[in-house]
Amino acid sequence: MSTPVLTAVAWPYANGPRHIGHVSGFGVPSDVFSRYQRMAGNKVLMVSGTDEHGTPIQVQADKEGLTPQQAADKYTRQITEDLRGLGLSYDLFTRTSTGNHAEVTQQIFLALHRNGYVIPKTTTGAISPSTGRTLPDRYIEGTCPICGYDGARGDQCDNCGNQLDAAELRNPRSRINGEKPKFVETEHLFLDLPAFTETLGKWLATKTDWRPNVLNFTRNLVDDMRPRPITRDLDWGVRIPLDGWRDQPLKRFYVWFDAVIGYFSASVEWARRSGNPDAWQEWWNNPDARSYYFMGKDNITFHAQIWPALLLGHNGEGDKGGEPGPYGKLRLPDEIVSSEFLTMSGSKFSTSRGTVIYVHDFLREFGPDTLRYFIAVAGPETQDTDFTWDEFTRRINFELANEWGNLVNRAISMAHKNNGGIPRPNTPTRADEDLKAQARAAFDTVGAHLSRSRFRQAVQEAMRVVSAANKYLSEQQPWKLKDDPERRDTVLHTALQVVSDANTLLTPFLPHAAQKVHEALGGTGVWAAQPELKEVADLDLPDRVNPILTGDYGAEQARWESTPIEVGRPLAKPTPLFAKVDPKLSETGPEWAPIKVAE
Ligand code: MF3
Ligand code: ZN
Repeated sequence: MSTPVLTAVAWPYANGPRHIGHVSGFGVPSDVFSRYQRMAGNKVLMVSGTDEHGTPIQVQADKEGLTPQQAADKYTRQITEDLRGLGLSYDLFTRTSTGNHAEVTQQIFLALHRNGYVIPKTTTGAISPSTGRTLPDRYIEGTCPICGYDGARGDQCDNCGNQLDAAELRNPRSRINGEKPKFVETEHLFLDLPAFTETLGKWLATKTDWRPNVLNFTRNLVDDMRPRPITRDLDWGVRIPLDGWRDQPLKRFYVWFDAVIGYFSASVEWARRSGNPDAWQEWWNNPDARSYYFMGKDNITFHAQIWPALLLGHNGEGDKGGEPGPYGKLRLPDEIVSSEFLTMSGSKFSTSRGTVIYVHDFLREFGPDTLRYFIAVAGPETQDTDFTWDEFTRRINFELANEWGNLVNRAISMAHKNNGGIPRPNTPTRADEDLKAQARAAFDTVGAHLSRSRFRQAVQEAMRVVSAANKYLSEQQPWKLKDDPERRDTVLHTALQVVSDANTLLTPFLPHAAQKVHEALGGTGVWAAQPELKEVADLDLPDRVNPILTGDYGAEQARWESTPIEVGRPLAKPTPLFAKVDPKLSETGPEWAPIKVAE
């Protein structure tokens, strides 16, 4: 049975190019998952885009002397290119500054408002006197009123760990430009989270098999929920479609409010572009559909609490009831899949401290599949994990190049040399049958891990087949079977069949290499499809052109099953699948991200 599967991938801020820490959280895991689901015959809709609104973009734009739209344009292009290069197979990767996104955000908001889940409140907020814009708590620093530490932030003191309120700081100043914030009364709209205590609590209680990091987080989530602001004093963001708010120059939705709605608005945009504007319903209104959300751990609240609450409110299913909004009853997340952080030499990736490895640099030198493999096998799936050049070098050289690359090379070269193509097998021995059975059985075990987002175990199980095939070749020694060509043909046939199976098992992780192996085995056409970057006119805003990622994934041949190889198919002499990296890299790092030696 084919299930509609929504892969909802966290939206990167359009405030800089992506580094490998970012893509290890949301990017590679969601793509491995989607590729597997498509191969297993499910109907995948994988959506995301750049998150372009709010303070993060405003701050970066100010630094560069750009308008927020200019900065967002610049970084949306870079990020879209980074993700294309990694081969992330989005059905639509768009952006939040589209006309479609503003319209859908406003419709969802109006439904929430009609159902009574939005409340206005007057609050004290910090304003930057020079710009008039909101200064969020984390952009304010000062002296902690509790421990006296001078570097406390407006939301918390890192010295004593206490949660703070920016207005309590002594000697408060803006971390952006040093000025003293002005605290003023300002009116904002709040999401009435307490009005979801029961319904959200009930829904969360049904989610028992999520990853432990997400479950830990959600355990006591509904005990003490407070109304949460969904507007900001800012001139960059989606406008608030209410009388008295619509035309205010400094009132916009809070960036997180519109960003999470992006999962839905991008599905709508995808449908509009597909020629069937209602096509999104198959994923969003269908009880048989499933939805999976991928992100780094700092995003859990917004996906496990805020987004489900918005959906319940829109649907009229919160504690105060109501009527479904214009989109009918929208499906809540089935699973929240969160990674931990990828660190570098123990510290969080940080552009300011210089511990940063950009995706585009990485791709230029090592190609996409080495990074995809590293993230799958050694990434921060369940705990913070350190990226080191030493481990990268070992994994690429010993696992990808020696184990997998050599297996492909040995099996195909020998068949090419001796037979010129795929040999006909003769009577198999126990060893031949065992190896083939092990490869066939792996489809179930690896598939089960992938469907539960256990990527590390999945790739390790797939690599076990590769090791078994290498061991088989060493034992059967086909190169010594000159005098027994019948047996040699059987051994080579067996090895090639298992290379083909292992290639299928590794396709979600290594889609570029998988295409090459498919061709090296004499296959033609698209085995694993790749995303394309297109420049398209905005569907609603005149004169705006947006870079998007999309792809024709229905055209790919890869299926999650063992495909019998075709006897007699010609084989060419193979070229190496993975270049080894210079072992010196483990001590020095590459020129563009050298390992810093402690002084
Ligand atoms: N831009 C946010 C970040 O980088 C993630 C937004 S995810 C979405 O942390 F849910 F809002 F889409
Ligand atoms: Zn303190």
